[in-house]
Amino acid sequence: MTDVAKFGISRLDELLGGGLDRYTENLIIGRSGIGKTILAAHWAAEGARNDETVVYLSTTMNKKNCKAYLGRFPFMEDVYDKIKWRFIRVDPKFVLPLTREKIVEGLRATFGMDGKDIDRVVFDSCTDLELALADPVLYRRALTYMSDLSYDYEITSLWIEEAPMQGDWSSTKNIVDSVIFLNLLRTQEGYQRAMRILKKYRTRVPLEWIPYEITDEGVVIKDGYIVKRSYDYEYKRG
Ligand SMILES: Nc1ncnc2c1ncn2[C@@H]1O[C@H](COP(=O)(O)OP(=O)(O)O)[C@@H](O)[C@H]1O
Ligand SMILES: [Mg+2]
Repeated sequence: MTDVAKFGISRLDELLGGGLDRYTENLIIGRSGIGKTILAAHWAAEGARNDETVVYLSTTMNKKNCKAYLGRFPFMEDVYDKIKWRFIRVDPKFVLPLTREKIVEGLRATFGMDGKDIDRVVFDSCTDLELALADPVLYRRALTYMSDLSYDYEITSLWIEEAPMQGDWSSTKNIVDSVIFLNLLRTQEGYQRAMRILKKYRTRVPLEWIPYEITDEGVVIKDGYIVKRSYDYEYKRG
């Protein structure tokens, strides 16, 4: 197994310093329809292609529409059936009152296999857990339990979170090793999908927005960068 967990999207992997670091928690955040699920699916497929054991937890899809949606992308060819898809519904009655045992047992039952045998997990999306717990402190605690578990089992995790249309983001971004923010930017030409690596421990990442498109091939990174046109400060040489 390589020391990083790649997406299989070469420019993105390069910008991330090779890929996501093993045995860490990572987050993709963005609004609905921006491309979080497709990007996470690339990462899951890449793991399966390298004969890793990959579990994809989905709170929104079911067996049928997931295959119809993600199964048709070329990057899923030959690997769709190697991924352990788990379709779950997060109900408050299963998680409340919140205890570490509940989270550990819940995940164990959902995985349906020994955590030690798992290499990559996608949790799409954590927002359903957040809604079920309905409390930022409890939510953060649940994520900490999950992150302890991935560490014990030596799993690399990719969590997905819906960015709120307005208001504050959850604190997930503060406890993970890396954050990729997917967004829609307005440029001269109109709207452009773009991603920014908000943070990545141990790697120097670009601060600019990286434009991408979603096509029949999945997420395709475009050349160049996007920077904001207006600014408040100017640097002057000494
Ligand atoms: N084959 C395709 N060609 C172009 N765009 C696509 C294709 N498949 C999906 N999309 C676009 O991808 C977006 C949904 O991506 P998805 O990863 O499911 O979003 P989310 O961030 O909600 O998880 C939609 O806006 C849709 O228009
Ligand atoms: Mg999605």
